[in-house]
Amino acid sequence: MEYIFLEKTESTQDCIKKLVEEGKHDTAVLAKEQVKGRGRNGRTWVSSFGGLWFSFDTEFAEDLITLKAGVAVLEVCTKLYDCKLSLKWPNDLILNNKKVAGILCEKIGNRVVVGIGINTNNKDNLIETSTSFIKETGKSIDNEVLMKEIITGFQDYRKDVIKEFRENMAFVGEKKYVSTINKEAKIMGISDDGHLTVETENNIMNVFSGEIL
Ligand code: BTN
Repeated sequence: MEYIFLEKTESTQDCIKKLVEEGKHDTAVLAKEQVKGRGRNGRTWVSSFGGLWFSFDTEFAEDLITLKAGVAVLEVCTKLYDCKLSLKWPNDLILNNKKVAGILCEKIGNRVVVGIGINTNNKDNLIETSTSFIKETGKSIDNEVLMKEIITGFQDYRKDVIKEFRENMAFVGEKKYVSTINKEAKIMGISDDGHLTVETENNIMNVFSGEIL
């Protein structure tokens, strides 16, 4: 993996996308600030100074990449910072009931650009439902070390992604609003192919896309 460090960019996703389109593989870009950070479903991802914002490309080998990235981030953060994180399907990281990190995977040909945003040392511009590691633990994080550990953790990941995800899944048994079905449902878990399983008044169903709000 080749690492590129930027002070400021529009979005690290676009940096890697451009490199992939030019035929260059295995690059990671970290930017201290993004002025056009993107989240899932076309949302803006506020990327102020202090947080960890990076993207890298990987081969598209399986459908579970997005869940695998979440599990890898969770395991590395748990190991390094000894905190209780959980995963909100499909791949948000939750710390003390608030979102602390998000992942955006975008497919380009036979490559996938994995973008990871972690609120590490940033305290400002966090919405009510989000938090940062520094806010929760008081400790600051070395963003470069964390990024490299996550990429290595992701590349070397050999465990059963579904099993690990299930064991660390947030909100299981709770009633939450699920965007795809436009109503509240009880979160049951994930299916063997990584879809969200929910229970409504009359049945149990799998949800293929969308999110838990
Ligand atoms: C989400 O939770 O909606 C996904 C957020 C992904 C944010 C990261 S930050 C690095 C990379 N560059 C972006 O513009 N987005 C991703």
